[in-house]
Amino acid sequence: MIPVIKSKLFTLRPFRRGDEHSLQKSINSRNVTKHTVFIPYPYTMKHSREWVAKNISFYRKKKKTEVNFAIGIGGEVAGGIGLRYIEGRKAELGYWLAEKHWGKGIMTTAVGLVTDYAVKQLRLRRLYATVFTSNKASARVLEKSGFRVEGKLRRFHKKGGRLFDALLYAKVR
Ligand SMILES: CC(C)(COP(=O)(O)OP(=O)(O)OC[C@H]1O[C@@H](n2cnc3c(N)ncnc32)[C@H](O)[C@@H]1OP(=O)(O)O)[C@@H](O)C(=O)NCCC(=O)NCCS
Repeated sequence: MIPVIKSKLFTLRPFRRGDEHSLQKSINSRNVTKHTVFIPYPYTMKHSREWVAKNISFYRKKKKTEVNFAIGIGGEVAGGIGLRYIEGRKAELGYWLAEKHWGKGIMTTAVGLVTDYAVKQLRLRRLYATVFTSNKASARVLEKSGFRVEGKLRRFHKKGGRLFDALLYAKVR
């Protein structure tokens, strides 16, 4: 069971059928995708449909290996945040937000809520994220959320045929 978590500016909730259009509209941006490894650009309706269907099937699984929340604002998918590679007591954290909502503290709040969910519901003890060294906004979100840098991963991410350095951030309990 994936919870619905309400906050002042947004709601964290499971992806559901009907989200495809607003998801595609919010995520299909060069600025949103340039610092992410798993999100394709352009992001088509086919990608959107596959993402929603994949998550609905993940939610049904008893053993959770990946949990993704939609960030809902005004009935639309304005962003996403999730945990993947859940194994043992650890998982990787990833997130994105539609550009028009940047700079209001939304992702910092969302990271806090998902961290709480990971610790209390999934009983995880370590969350980590790898951030392109040029992605200052994401690094700041993690720092504000109590994540610490554990090192620089040289030539770690491959994107568009190029290799990029990343910072490894983690928060442990
Ligand atoms: C990273 C992202 C999720 C941040 O979302 P957000 O809701 O705007 O984040 P918040 O408002 O909670 O915090 C952003 C912080 O970064 C700071 N920031 C933004 N751009 C910055 C820059 N270029 N240099 C330094 N700091 C920057 C903001 O000032 C703010 O810090 P502050 O509260 O100390 O002022 C959003 O920019 C995004 O979706 N980016 C594209 C996808 C992505 O990079 N995902 C993460 C992959 S690891």
